[in-house]
Amino acid sequence: MKIAVVGTGYVGLVAGTCFAESGNEVTCVDVDARKVQALQEGRIPIYEPGLEELLHRNAAARRLHFTTELAKAVAPAQVVFIAVGTPEGESGDADLQYVLSAAGEIGKAMKHYTVVVDKSTVPVGTADKVREAIRAVTDVEFDVVSNPEFLKEGAALEDFLKPDRVVIGTHSDRARKLMGELYAPFVRTENPILYMDTRSAELTKYAANAMLATRISFMNDISALCEKVGADVEYVRKGLGSDKRIGYPFLHPGCGYGGSCFPKDVKALVATARDYGLELDLLRAVERTNARQKRSMLAKALKHFGELADRTFGVWGLAFKPKTDDMREAPAVELIEGLLGKGARVQVYDPVAAKVAERYFGNRVLYAPSSYAAAEGAEGLFLVTEWNEFRRPDLRKLRSLMKGHVIFDGRNVFDPVQVKDEGFTYYGIGRS
Ligand code: UDX
Repeated sequence: MKIAVVGTGYVGLVAGTCFAESGNEVTCVDVDARKVQALQEGRIPIYEPGLEELLHRNAAARRLHFTTELAKAVAPAQVVFIAVGTPEGESGDADLQYVLSAAGEIGKAMKHYTVVVDKSTVPVGTADKVREAIRAVTDVEFDVVSNPEFLKEGAALEDFLKPDRVVIGTHSDRARKLMGELYAPFVRTENPILYMDTRSAELTKYAANAMLATRISFMNDISALCEKVGADVEYVRKGLGSDKRIGYPFLHPGCGYGGSCFPKDVKALVATARDYGLELDLLRAVERTNARQKRSMLAKALKHFGELADRTFGVWGLAFKPKTDDMREAPAVELIEGLLGKGARVQVYDPVAAKVAERYFGNRVLYAPSSYAAAEGAEGLFLVTEWNEFRRPDLRKLRSLMKGHVIFDGRNVFDPVQVKDEGFTYYGIGRS
């Protein structure tokens, strides 16, 4: 099949590469000429395990192309994916200007029946708006499909190639058949394609992210209660997760959820509901809990040290989670800004996100070349992102390098007993 993907962000790049991998001829389009040139030269703008290799292989096989010329990519395509950004609008709703302008351009470029697919996470009703935007500029036949993407950063290829489910929202049998063929290589009996109407498909994506964010905030609330009553949230978590009706995934308490999806999508869902006169109280509480959670490590440091001015702190991990260099809404940003605001010196280390971090902190922090270098001379050490390389540090070495001996474990990865035995004061999340 001939496919065009408009927008080479996370979702577009992964989807385009994976559709090429399953034998289609894919052209990815972006307005950013520098980005397109880099991609043509085989360099990807994000860190995602395995993606560069897969991209090289499919580009070499001439199944994957990159261009700035939307019309040339769209004209021969049978299926066109819209995967452009949907930034947060003024009142927390998703800003659709890029989606709708892409739709208009696609409409003008279409030469024959085309399936236009909304791949970006877009509010309920967007498929109808996309349909109107295209219809306004062309007489060519087309269908609009809502096909939200559920991939996780850091595990994007795995999630795309072996999805739990593929959601396809459409009212057209013709589009349904084409989409079914396209996804057939990735689905199995237990990982089905779920066909539905466009509005249900659009809402499914938001509801899934809101549910996961709710689970995390619920556990973060319970962790705060554990600290008050002297319980250990890690026991409580296991006690909950082992109930089959609850299950283990996304019950890890921590220093707050971040990333480009949960914060934005929860906000957008609240805004959508409000447009319809409905207040989603539960989700507003989820947001409040997350905001408090992001401040919790700084609060613990203030309580421990009193004054933070002129003290040095090490920070392990900058990205919003391991295996990515994405720092959007990362808890590390709020923590570091908080420390700097109190006059502290901050030494940071992340296996891949240091370059991205420069955009946030410039030269206001010290970028250490290793985790141990970030801890050198520090009075306290914060673990913010649970990269594997932080999990089993040489505690004796750490103790000799640090000036003070306090560990703030924002992801509960250390064994408190072991850490205390080595002479550290330990602060976890929901346990002491
Ligand atoms: C998420 C969804 O998982 C994905 O389906 C959707 O398409 C996009 O949004 P992503 O943002 O890449 O994916 O990351 P995810 O692994 O879901 O983690 C989100 C945040 O939640 C991270 O900050 C992570 O640290 C935090 N988290 C996750 C917890 O605090 N506790 C958990 O138990 C799980």
